[in-house]
Amino acid sequence: MDTAISTPEGIEDDWHAALAALAWQVDLGVTDPLGDAPVNRYELGEPVRATPAAPAVRTETPAHGPASDEDPVAAANAAASRAMTLQDLQSALAAYDHCDLKRGARNLVFGDGNPAARVLILGEAPGSEEDRDGRPFVGRAGQLLDLMFAAIGLSRTAENPANALYITNVLPWRPPANRDPEPAEIAMMRPFVERHIALIDPQVIVVMGNTPLIAMTGSKGILRARGTWTQALGKPLLPMTHPAYLLRNPEAKREAWADLLSLKARLQG
Ligand code: URA
Repeated sequence: MDTAISTPEGIEDDWHAALAALAWQVDLGVTDPLGDAPVNRYELGEPVRATPAAPAVRTETPAHGPASDEDPVAAANAAASRAMTLQDLQSALAAYDHCDLKRGARNLVFGDGNPAARVLILGEAPGSEEDRDGRPFVGRAGQLLDLMFAAIGLSRTAENPANALYITNVLPWRPPANRDPEPAEIAMMRPFVERHIALIDPQVIVVMGNTPLIAMTGSKGILRARGTWTQALGKPLLPMTHPAYLLRNPEAKREAWADLLSLKARLQG
């Protein structure tokens, strides 16, 4: 989205208000600031690169994208397979330059919770709060997720692996304006997700929403798939509706509760 950035009167004097106004526009999905006067870019000669809309954490990213024309999925496979620890994997993701989302993100959102947990939750991608905080599921949907799993005795802060959760996402960088991840982005992140799951080695995987369902099973249709156990990466996998969907459709919480009970029964069995 492009926008002309208008500043209410007096805002020039208030640095903090100006920054807040800019952050608000970024959250609305603004990617390119425009001036009041039109610019004919054909007359400018040298190509002009757009100014990044938000401050981004990308110290290891060259300004002009990946250095090589290596296949992104092959590069991801090579990088992920070399990671022997979670720390290695996080560093490999931070150094991976084939995903443009990295260039617009403030933080790499890697994972949260207890790495010894029996249950691994796989979400979609960070939203604005996760992007700011660097941890998955810390916004409204994340608060609901915490409440849902607490209701069956599971928590990301539990020290006992039997009651613990580990949480990560298919994409570690926030897509602009929270758009759906593209198939190419899912494909290049899949090797990292597979390695992440192998390093955690949970007893069961819970996928929340369509993106992780696609990443793990190759098919979409979370509303049909939810509640039906399947297998991925040699592990039992439970598809569930995303907590953001439950916030928009509270009537679906009844089914989500049935899915949580099914998870609880599987862990007790
Ligand atoms: N939604 C997700 O799928 N993941 C997050 O981390 C936050 C919101």
